Amino acid sequence: MPGPLRAQSLARLHRVPGAPVHLSPPTEIGMEAKYQERLSSIERIQEGFAELNYICSRPIATAIYVSCHLGKPLLVEGPAGVGKTELANATSEYLGVPMIRMQCYEGLDESKALYEWKYAKQLLYTQILKDKIGDVLSDAHGLAESMEQLHRFSDIFFSEQFLEPRPLLKALTAEEGAVLLIDEIDKSDHEFEAFLLEILSEFQISIPEIGTVKAKKRPFVFLTSNNTREMSDALKRRCLHLFVPFPDAKLEQRIIKARVPAIPDSLKVQLVDFVQQVREMDLKKQPSVSETIDWARVLLLLHATSLDADVVRETLNVFLKFEEDIHAVDQQLYEFTRHAQKADARVA
Ligand SMILES: Nc1ncnc2c1ncn2[C@@H]1O[C@H](COP(=O)(O)OP(=O)(O)OP(=O)(O)O)[C@@H](O)[C@H]1O
Ligand SMILES: [Mg+2]
Repeated sequence: MPGPLRAQSLARLHRVPGAPVHLSPPTEIGMEAKYQERLSSIERIQEGFAELNYICSRPIATAIYVSCHLGKPLLVEGPAGVGKTELANATSEYLGVPMIRMQCYEGLDESKALYEWKYAKQLLYTQILKDKIGDVLSDAHGLAESMEQLHRFSDIFFSEQFLEPRPLLKALTAEEGAVLLIDEIDKSDHEFEAFLLEILSEFQISIPEIGTVKAKKRPFVFLTSNNTREMSDALKRRCLHLFVPFPDAKLEQRIIKARVPAIPDSLKVQLVDFVQQVREMDLKKQPSVSETIDWARVLLLLHATSLDADVVRETLNVFLKFEEDIHAVDQQLYEFTRHAQKADARVA
């Protein structure tokens, strides 16, 4: 396994020829020092995230390590409810930087993602200018000079004071850096995906009236996708890729323990074994980690200390969301419950 990487030398290695030099300004050395201990190794990340109740498999922690050191966005793919969004939340908490989230949807455009002009404020200023026009132009001689003076005012209307920053601009201008989560990118249109490319590779955006805005501190960028559509090659090339599958039994037990600490050990082993068996079936919707957590909470609420066929039947709807799936699992109920009880005995 690689030892701790020197962030700066990595940044140099990673720099594309011709890319703006100011993307790694001297101020970032301070920023990196701030994170150096927390990002010192893959194991350190696993421990730190576990303290925040996010259980990282080694591949997840490795992806965080590499993405943070290289300053490259991380595209996280995987089925629903495996912890993709929560990974960005945990990173923000772990590094102590604000989380800026942008939820993608069909029709999302630049004005919602990047910035809008404050029309009401512009209108108000137009009114004030109209009222004060006499004072403003009192020392102007002739039409040309009056027009020139008015022009200077019109420039103010399209300055930063009239700009309403949306998530992407907020992330680029965050003084202390930020985690930028572009959530469910697969729900946005192709045009929006194309628009993101400049930000993802250059960490800058162009505002026609103002010019280029460059990142004050490079944000840690996460994109998540449920794979409802393929991402473009151009987007993939700008990101590191992480696929988060359903966890294996051991990892899922740790997640349950972290999220539902009051759960008795034997119940935890049994319910995870049951869910893992269910995931082997050909269902309309497989139970996700968040549904295993919900089930653990419900079983605790019902004072169950171990699984039996009756309690499972009564609570199948907690982790299965389709009638056909409930019916299919119901057919296997006794067999799965017996297997789960044996799994517990094996662990004991
Ligand atoms: N590795 C993990 N450690 C701790 N909790 C986890 C982990 N994975 C998932 N969870 C739990 O599952 C819940 C759902 O996770 P999250 O919302 O991040 O899923 P998702 O992959 O973003 O799903 P979707 O694709 O539906 O948005 C989280 O609130 C968290 O409680
Ligand atoms: Mg999510």
